[in-house]
Amino acid sequence: MRKVIFDTDPGVDDAMALAFLCRRPELELIGVTTVHGNADIDTVTRNALFLKDRLGFSAPVAQGSGVTFLNRRGNTATHVHGENALGNIAIDTPRATLDGRRGHRMIIDLVRAHPNEVTIIAVGPLTNLARALDKDPEIARLVQGVVVMGGAFGSNGNTGNVSPVAEANIHNDPEAADAVFTAPWPVTIIGLDVTQQVVMDAAFLRALGECGETGRLLHDVSRFYHGFHQRSRRLDGIFAHDSLAVLYAVRPDLFTLRHGPVRVVCGGIASGQTIQKPEESPFPIGAWDPHPNQSVAIDVHVQAALKVYADSF
Ligand code: BDR
Ligand code: CA
Repeated sequence: MRKVIFDTDPGVDDAMALAFLCRRPELELIGVTTVHGNADIDTVTRNALFLKDRLGFSAPVAQGSGVTFLNRRGNTATHVHGENALGNIAIDTPRATLDGRRGHRMIIDLVRAHPNEVTIIAVGPLTNLARALDKDPEIARLVQGVVVMGGAFGSNGNTGNVSPVAEANIHNDPEAADAVFTAPWPVTIIGLDVTQQVVMDAAFLRALGECGETGRLLHDVSRFYHGFHQRSRRLDGIFAHDSLAVLYAVRPDLFTLRHGPVRVVCGGIASGQTIQKPEESPFPIGAWDPHPNQSVAIDVHVQAALKVYADSF
């Protein structure tokens, strides 16, 4: 079983991804860290504790950063996920309580406690990971792998979702993302290039709603998000986004990857754009060259991806 830290800003698709993770026998959830993003840090942390109650996992939840790596206020996406970021469903006061550590500290502690055994799956802005690297750069050599939902590389015509070139998680903290992508650890980036190919349509969500208490919860949580996709994308369904980062940890064979160093545009009108220099590229580009190759997902087996998710409930 692979030990997993889930770094998240719950968020509807985060909740769907966390529920999926909890169902997979290949993965052992050992910690959840929250980060600003879909809503402010207090809201997403409350949501993580609510999900701990409802999904019944035992891993500790630690509150992470409420501001960006450079201490700016990030954007929120309550118009996408609802005011409470879980589709405006009723949320009882959680019984689960917070771990006393800050998110980045818990990441460092768990990685050091299990050298070369931990995979970090990060599905929000990358602030906690950048802070952990900043405080303890050695952890980059001790992590088995990092899987990120974020970025848009333009393959399959998929560019940004918050600007013509930028995806939300990266746009929300570009400096953190650039630090994470250029660090000496193996990062696999699952961006819009693949996540916008995988649509959980209305029938899929209805069927999920029939799958016990957890299925019903995910169905209810997804309704507001579904409405957003209908209004803004004319899509009768939702993009699977964060669940695909979990899927990669379970079934990497379903993805096609491209390798090469990745940088993030920090500032200006293209802020948050992710650019990969292909491994075979002839261009001597100084900003990319000294950095490690990372893996970017450019294709996914759509039907198989949906089936693995559905069969987990
Ligand atoms: C990403 O942004 C967030 O709103 C979602 O939870 C997902 O992680 C998609 O761009
Ligand atoms: Ca997310």
